[in-house]
Amino acid sequence: MIEKIFDTLENGDFVLSATLNNGPYELEVISLGATIRSLKVPNKDGEVEDVVLGYDSAKEYLENTTYYGMCVGRFANRIKNGAFELEGINYQLETNNGLNTLHSASAGFCFKNWEMELQEGINPAVKLTINSEDGEGNWPGNVEVSVTYTLTSDGRVEIAYSAMSDKKTLMNLTNHSYFNLSGNLSNKILDEEVYIESDCYVEVDEELIPTGKIIKSKGTPFDFNEFHTIRERINQTPSGYDHCFCFPNSDGTLKYRAEIRDLESKRIMKVYTTMPSAQMYTSNFFEAGSCGKSNIEYTKNGGIAFETQYYPDSPNHSNFPSCVIEANKEYAYKTVYEFSLMK
Ligand code: BGC
Repeated sequence: MIEKIFDTLENGDFVLSATLNNGPYELEVISLGATIRSLKVPNKDGEVEDVVLGYDSAKEYLENTTYYGMCVGRFANRIKNGAFELEGINYQLETNNGLNTLHSASAGFCFKNWEMELQEGINPAVKLTINSEDGEGNWPGNVEVSVTYTLTSDGRVEIAYSAMSDKKTLMNLTNHSYFNLSGNLSNKILDEEVYIESDCYVEVDEELIPTGKIIKSKGTPFDFNEFHTIRERINQTPSGYDHCFCFPNSDGTLKYRAEIRDLESKRIMKVYTTMPSAQMYTSNFFEAGSCGKSNIEYTKNGGIAFETQYYPDSPNHSNFPSCVIEANKEYAYKTVYEFSLMK
């Protein structure tokens, strides 16, 4: 495991980078945003290549609206009008996406420089922690949050989230990695094949805010119960996939929920989570000419994010699984991205 300085913030603080190696796999995490900055996995010919989008500087991470690889919280995804009610109190958050709040706006955990602790062992790990004060971003409750990334020798990136608040509050953390299994980060992901174990999705309006309805996906472009390429039906969606897929029988245990495969490189990524849903986002809003690591030009549909989480705007929908956490009760969940090769 290597720890080094990635960059320096304006206040002089260092953004650290930790590189974990296990077998042919390599995972780099930086302290700013508890971000997965690179993830190298072999292709069918044993070539080890990066499969996630990212940046080369702290400034780009701080100014971005893409959230490449970042840990998003306190509430990932959208909250309508940035408003919710909890225990009879109305809370108003900063809005940053039209009239709505996306990924918790400027109070987002992804803009914090987390404490980082390397954990040696058979499977190397890095634990990142932050505190967020009661009232920060108008959220209730002092919270302590940690995210631990573990890299196993059989190609699993395990992400364990934990949070504790001293007041009842909301919690919805995710990792916002954009995967491109081709290993060429300037490629589009349109020919990657996707399977999702889900028979319904959250209906949204033109602002991508849930209407409250959960729609059966059978026979629609949102039915991924068999493998489909993204290309096949993306034009039948409003501006690409940017939807929350609901998982059946969600009981808090770790379950296989999705799989992406790239027929060229033969890389497979399986997604396991304890969460009841995930937002699949096919990078529909990337600006032309935007560059990432090593000055590589990223393109629209250049990555797939598979963000495990509670449903968007869940604080305003009593029929959605609840993202409320009680005071002094641990919020803990796990997501695993597992890499292998097609036979
Ligand atoms: C959202 C997209 C948004 C992207 C980057 C995703 O989680 O669903 O609508 O454009 O994050 O902010």
